Amino acid sequence: MDLKGLKLTWLGHATFRVHTTDGKTVIFDPFLKDNPKCPENEKAQKQVDYMVISHGHGDHTADAVELARKHKPKVVGMIELCAWLNRKGIETCLPMNKGGSQQVDKLKVVMVHAEHSSSVEDDGQLIYTGDPAGIIVQFENGVKIYHAGDTCVFSDMALIHEIYQPDLALLPIGDHFTMGPKEAAVACRLLQPKAVVPMHYGTWPLLTGTPAAFKKELAGQKIEVIEMKPGQTIG
Ligand code: NI
Ligand code: MN
Repeated sequence: MDLKGLKLTWLGHATFRVHTTDGKTVIFDPFLKDNPKCPENEKAQKQVDYMVISHGHGDHTADAVELARKHKPKVVGMIELCAWLNRKGIETCLPMNKGGSQQVDKLKVVMVHAEHSSSVEDDGQLIYTGDPAGIIVQFENGVKIYHAGDTCVFSDMALIHEIYQPDLALLPIGDHFTMGPKEAAVACRLLQPKAVVPMHYGTWPLLTGTPAAFKKELAGQKIEVIEMKPGQTIG
């Protein structure tokens, strides 16, 4: 998979960083300090220009407020999730909802469906943060990366292929809270990306899906599986 100058780093679980060809930094689903798979030298970030958040759960948002306060990135997320961030004093949100797209400087961001739940725990209370979502970012070089967020497989992933044709899919395979290897293989058939990076597995013992099991389920599909190590960069 040729990322045409983008650098993609997995920070463990569902957290990724992309360095763009213009020297900008995009963080997907910031979960760093308490993320057991985030390398020590990545727990603090030097530069965050954009933050993209799939849903409110702590394993996708735990570091969002602190990073946003420190780096003042533009933050893209579901409207109710952005409202919660606003209440935390984050004024750089660009809220949206599913089926919509927005141009954020040189990035085109599309919010798509995900089947899951979404809330954030705040002072012991569960706050509603709208629907969970998947997000596709089309970078300035034309490459489209789809971060599925947390989801089960759903047949409308075929529409995501039909309408947006993402090049690279970041898909959960851990099972229990999201799809596992068997479901993720069906997701690949529907999405037809050029390549897939499995994520959201191995973080805790409950997340039992493995890349080996995923590859086995994919047998016969023409798709590149990129198995990353936390802290690894590709592209
Ligand atoms: Ni979740
Ligand atoms: Mn999760």
